[in-house]
Amino acid sequence: MTEMTTVTAAAPAPAKKAVPDVQTVTAVRHWTDRLFSFRCTRPASLRFRSGEFVMIGLMVNDAKTGREKPLLRAYSIASPSWDEELEFYSIKVEDGPLTSRLQHIEVGDEIVLRPKPVGTLVHDALLPGKRIWFFATGTGFAPFASLLREPQTYEDYDEIIITHTCREAAELHYGAELIAGLKEDALLNEVIGEGFWKKIRYYPTTTREQSPKMGRITDLMRSGEAFTDLGVQPLDPAADRAMICGNLAFNLELKEMLEGYGLEEGANSDPKHYVVEKAFLD
Ligand code: A2P
Repeated sequence: MTEMTTVTAAAPAPAKKAVPDVQTVTAVRHWTDRLFSFRCTRPASLRFRSGEFVMIGLMVNDAKTGREKPLLRAYSIASPSWDEELEFYSIKVEDGPLTSRLQHIEVGDEIVLRPKPVGTLVHDALLPGKRIWFFATGTGFAPFASLLREPQTYEDYDEIIITHTCREAAELHYGAELIAGLKEDALLNEVIGEGFWKKIRYYPTTTREQSPKMGRITDLMRSGEAFTDLGVQPLDPAADRAMICGNLAFNLELKEMLEGYGLEEGANSDPKHYVVEKAFLD
């Protein structure tokens, strides 16, 4: 008797969600024929740490069943944790299952967003340090777009060096505009401190089109040119912290280089000197 009453009273059947988590697109901007960014509404329940990612996507028709189903991919949240909306920065892949469709979204359209943020590019995964390096290629800039607008970044570090390597100059525009905008951002200057942006050193490079600084960041570090340009010593575990986000080959190569400087990889549960994440491509 006891058993029966306990079971029925303590374990009510969980309510089943019939509809997926839908958000509305509020802005779209196309940066090149390969890149776009967009903003959407933020679920009231979503709390995240700047630098984390979520699963987002669209409802698509399942060829087998003929039913609608969500097609989702992991996307770094490019907006900071305090923003009322969410921002994403995406590549367009012509035959990519998701981005071939997602690139056509317009203001007012609905996207699916699972409000379960995760990720390793978070301040919690790093030990205290003096200087932080953000290393990005392509759309790997996205989590840094979040972290560059996060007050904690400036509380924790005296200097922030952001390197961004892209094939072409136009692919740098999203990041360049965002960084330039920090200067004019009255709210951030008030909240973080007037002139907080002076802590940022921006080091953009291109590999396949002429620009003021050519070459892969990895090669420029190996030759010492990047350190000379920036007027700093090579990375040192006593002072430097780093976050890496780019294509897989870049992540692996840079990870090995950082280990060579004596930095060790951290995690949420075991903070150390650097963290790495791959950009999620379609
Ligand atoms: P490259 O043009 O020499 O391949 P992608 O668009 O293919 O994701 O690449 C983005 C940028 O990352 C490009 O400028 C590319 O240079 C660069 N890149 C690719 N692999 C590496 C690597 N292993 N180390 C450094 N940069 C890389």
